[in-house]
Amino acid sequence: MFKRKNTVLGLDIGASSIKVVEMAKSGSEFVITGYGQAAISGNGETLSSVLTELLQATGIKAKRVVTSVSGREVIVRYISMQPVEQENLPNAIRFEADKYIPFDLEEVVLDSQKLDESVLGFTNTAEMKVLLVAAKKSLIEQKVQLLKEAGLYPAVIDVDCFALGNAFELRNILSPRAEVEGKVVSLIDIGASKTNITIMIGNSSFFTREIYLAGNEFTEEIQKKLEVTPEEAEKLKRDPGVFALEVQEAVSAVIDDLANEVTLSFDFFESQFEREVEEIYISGGGSQFFSLEPDFERIFGKRINRWDPTENFEIQSDQVDVDALKANAPQLAIVMGLASRIRTL
Ligand SMILES: Nc1ncnc2c1ncn2[C@@H]1O[C@H](COP(=O)(O)OP(=O)(O)OP(=O)(O)O)[C@@H](O)[C@H]1O
Ligand SMILES: [Mg+2]
Repeated sequence: MFKRKNTVLGLDIGASSIKVVEMAKSGSEFVITGYGQAAISGNGETLSSVLTELLQATGIKAKRVVTSVSGREVIVRYISMQPVEQENLPNAIRFEADKYIPFDLEEVVLDSQKLDESVLGFTNTAEMKVLLVAAKKSLIEQKVQLLKEAGLYPAVIDVDCFALGNAFELRNILSPRAEVEGKVVSLIDIGASKTNITIMIGNSSFFTREIYLAGNEFTEEIQKKLEVTPEEAEKLKRDPGVFALEVQEAVSAVIDDLANEVTLSFDFFESQFEREVEEIYISGGGSQFFSLEPDFERIFGKRINRWDPTENFEIQSDQVDVDALKANAPQLAIVMGLASRIRTL
């Protein structure tokens, strides 16, 4: 039904699981034609074997992949510099980058993009804001090698925080939503090893940050405080039953720490752009922890929204386990953002 060149595979290699979404574009319609998810157990299996098995099990055919990098070897900075034309930016940025990148420039891949400041409601002609991204070459090479081992090839290598924003952007394009129009929206994706934050106005991202506090720390606290095994702690986290109070208490300090880091990020954004974060949307497996949403609501004094990144997409139900897709939707924001890059491929 869809020509091969019109499909792409979004691949999110998270700390706890690999997620894949195959997306097809047909005119202005986007169709999810494949989906799968496999846990990374860490029991000696290689990532490429888990990925290969997952692709076989899902029957996904697309070979062209959009995947992402994240972590301490990826640096994202929003910098101010003297205005230059977009085509001269890569050259100009090499002179600026030294100030912002803690790595040897020879070791990194650089990317840059002028920010559209018009959504902020004012323009400053004396300087321009530029998004600067640097990723260690070795990190990218690792990804490319992994794809090769699984018989895939890269079309785009994105960054988790931007993928999160792209997923939200496409969702709003597919179904325009008055509640976020022109608003400062913060997306917070709480995974296993890390929490990604992005702050958007319209379709532009003005702040991103990765915090190394997430679901794994919730489990560790339960394990320590309730003196249980890691497996028991994981079970209690998802379904605490009669131990709800104890589990909530065990995790509360981590949630406070995470909320503090988020507040610091909001404060930084607000001091830079003189706009307040108005709406908060959470995603990621860690966001499903039962007390997270009420705790965040109390701490931020705001309604905390959840969203389904697969909403409004057509789903080819003879090839996709729709129930599994919907059940895992909170964990699919980043992979949906990656697959959504098909828009521009
Ligand atoms: N119902 C639930 N309640 C609490 N935690 C949950 C629930 N379901 C999943 N989790 C937690 O969510 C985390 C996995 O979420 P997710 O798939 O978003 O992370 P990841 O992408 O693998 O990791 P990362 O983004 O850090 O690389 C795990 O820590 C898991 O224990
Ligand atoms: Mg993740």
